[in-house]
Amino acid sequence: MALDMQKLDAFLGRFVGDLGATFNAGMVVIGDQLGLYKALAGEPVSAAELASKTSTDSRYVEEWLAAQAASGYVEYDAATGRFGLSEEQAYALATEGSPAFIPGAFQLATAALKSVPKMTEAFRTGAGLGWHEHDQALFHGTERFFRPGYAAKLASTWIPALDGVAAKLARGACVADVGCGHGASTILMAQAYPASRFVGFDYHAPSIERARACAAVAGVGDRVRFDVADADDYPGAAFDLVAMFDCLHDMGDPVAAAANVRRTLAPDGTWMIVEPFANDRLEDNLNPVGRVFYAVSTLVCTPNSRSQHGAMCLGAQAGESRIRDVVHRGGFARFRRATQTPFNLVYEARP
Ligand SMILES: C[S@@+](CC[C@H](N)C(=O)[O-])C[C@H]1O[C@@H](n2cnc3c(N)ncnc32)[C@H](O)[C@@H]1O
Repeated sequence: MALDMQKLDAFLGRFVGDLGATFNAGMVVIGDQLGLYKALAGEPVSAAELASKTSTDSRYVEEWLAAQAASGYVEYDAATGRFGLSEEQAYALATEGSPAFIPGAFQLATAALKSVPKMTEAFRTGAGLGWHEHDQALFHGTERFFRPGYAAKLASTWIPALDGVAAKLARGACVADVGCGHGASTILMAQAYPASRFVGFDYHAPSIERARACAAVAGVGDRVRFDVADADDYPGAAFDLVAMFDCLHDMGDPVAAAANVRRTLAPDGTWMIVEPFANDRLEDNLNPVGRVFYAVSTLVCTPNSRSQHGAMCLGAQAGESRIRDVVHRGGFARFRRATQTPFNLVYEARP
C-alpha cells in the first residue's frame, strides 16, 4: 500500500492539535475552579504573583501558564516574563455570565469523559446510561455552559419568534419547563415575565433540588416551582406554554412525551422545543459543531434515551424531519422552525 506522506502529515498535524485540545480541557477546568483566569484578568502577572494571588503552588501555576500560553488561552510577554488575558480571553474565560463564557463547556466535557469506561462496556452490551449515572460535574457544567446562551437569546429572540407567546407571558400565563435540569431557562423566563407562573419538571431529583436553590437565590421563588417528574407523565393542565430545552432527543419515548405535552397544553397553547442545531443528513453535519454534538450524543444523549422506556435514541443531531415526525405522532397538527442560532434550532408546535 502506497502511503501519501502529505496526507499522513496533514492528518498527524490535525492529531497534534486534537491531543493538545484534549489535555487543554483539563487545564481550563483547573484554571476555572481555582480562580486563575479571574486573577489573570487584571494587570499582567508573573507565575509567582499569580500563585500568591490565588493561594496556589507556584511551580504548578508556572507549568499551567506555559500550557495556557501555548494553547492561545493566555498571553505571554517574553520581555517581562508576565502573563495576562486579552479583553476577549477575559470575556470568554473569566466573566461568568458573559454570552461567550466557555469554562462550563470544558467542565461538561471532562465530566462526560469520566463515563468512557462505562460506555465502552455499554457498546458491547447495548446497555443504557442514564443522565443521573454521570459524574455530577456534568450537571453543573451543562448549566454553566447553557445559561449564557439562554440569557442572551431566550427572552430577546426565541420567545418573540413564537406566535403570540411573548404577549401572553407579559400579561400572565402558565408555563411548564420540562427536562429543566438546574432550572436556568425556567428562572430566566420568570425574571423576564414576572406576571407569569412557571413550573419546572425533571426526572433527576438532585437537579430539581439545585433548581429550587437557584430560584431562591434569584428571588423568583414566588412564581417558580420545581417538581420531580418524567416528561411522559408530568402533571398539570391548560399550560399556555410548554418548553423543552435540549432534552427532547434525550428521552426514551419522545412520542409519549409529545403526547403528554398535548394533553397538558391549553387548546391555543404552544410547545417550544429547543434542540441542538442539526441538519437532516449526516453528511451535512460533518463540521466542527456536528463533531461536538455527535460526541456528546454518543457519551450522554443516546445512552440516556437507551436507558429509558422506549429507547428511541434520536441522538443530539436528530434534525428537523425526525423532530417533526415525533411532534406529529404526539398529536400536534402544526410544526415550524421558529428561529435558529449556530448552536440551536427553536421549533414551535401547536395543537
Ligand atoms: C442536556 S440536559 C438539559 C437541561 C436543561 N433543559 C438545560 O437546558 O439546561 C437534559 C435534561 O433532560 C432531563 N431528562 C432526560 N430524560 C428525561 C425524562 N424522560 N423526563 C424528564 N427529564 C428528562 C435530564 O435529567 C437533564 O436534566
